[in-house]
Amino acid sequence: MPDLSFCGLLKNRTAMAKLPIIIAPDPRLKITATLVDKVDNAVRKFMDDLLDTMYAAPGIGLAAPQVGVAKRILVIDLAQKDSPPAPLQIVNPELIWTSEEFESNEEGCLSLPDQYAEIKRPKSARIRYLDQQNVDRELEATGMLAACLQHEMDHLDGRLFVDHLSRLKRDMILRKLSKLDHSDGNDHHRTMSTV
Ligand code: NI
Repeated sequence: MPDLSFCGLLKNRTAMAKLPIIIAPDPRLKITATLVDKVDNAVRKFMDDLLDTMYAAPGIGLAAPQVGVAKRILVIDLAQKDSPPAPLQIVNPELIWTSEEFESNEEGCLSLPDQYAEIKRPKSARIRYLDQQNVDRELEATGMLAACLQHEMDHLDGRLFVDHLSRLKRDMILRKLSKLDHSDGNDHHRTMSTV
């Protein structure tokens, strides 16, 4: 069972965060995001900002609702540290197939700083989406990418990884987070880079 952490893996990049990341519990993380009509320049600019924000956090996945934008947009980059960036920019993703086989991975989330849990999801998934050129594409993913995609797509429907846990475990994590002092803005994210 691989020990992976989705939004919280250290990427060692130096871009500036452009958008503040919303920390749970927060009603803006519980919304159902709406479809994007067309991937135009404004959407492309937003996706670049989302990527910069993700790299700066640092994280390996970020969904629009995590920065308060209720649109079905997410970005992912699973490139290893010291490899060139390999960003995936995904609009209006739709799950069209998932494997019967499941896999557990340790997940974290930029909206739940320093919190990790083993989450079981389909091991492989196939999605349809619009790319940054507004072109219809399909992607079949397995392992870490499949889990990361499903984690980020959950954000578009107001679900956090803790929503896959028992109520007891979920409440414990959310209680811890609501006691955190957020007055330092994004600064406390720096403490979660050692996964
Ligand atoms: Ni997340």
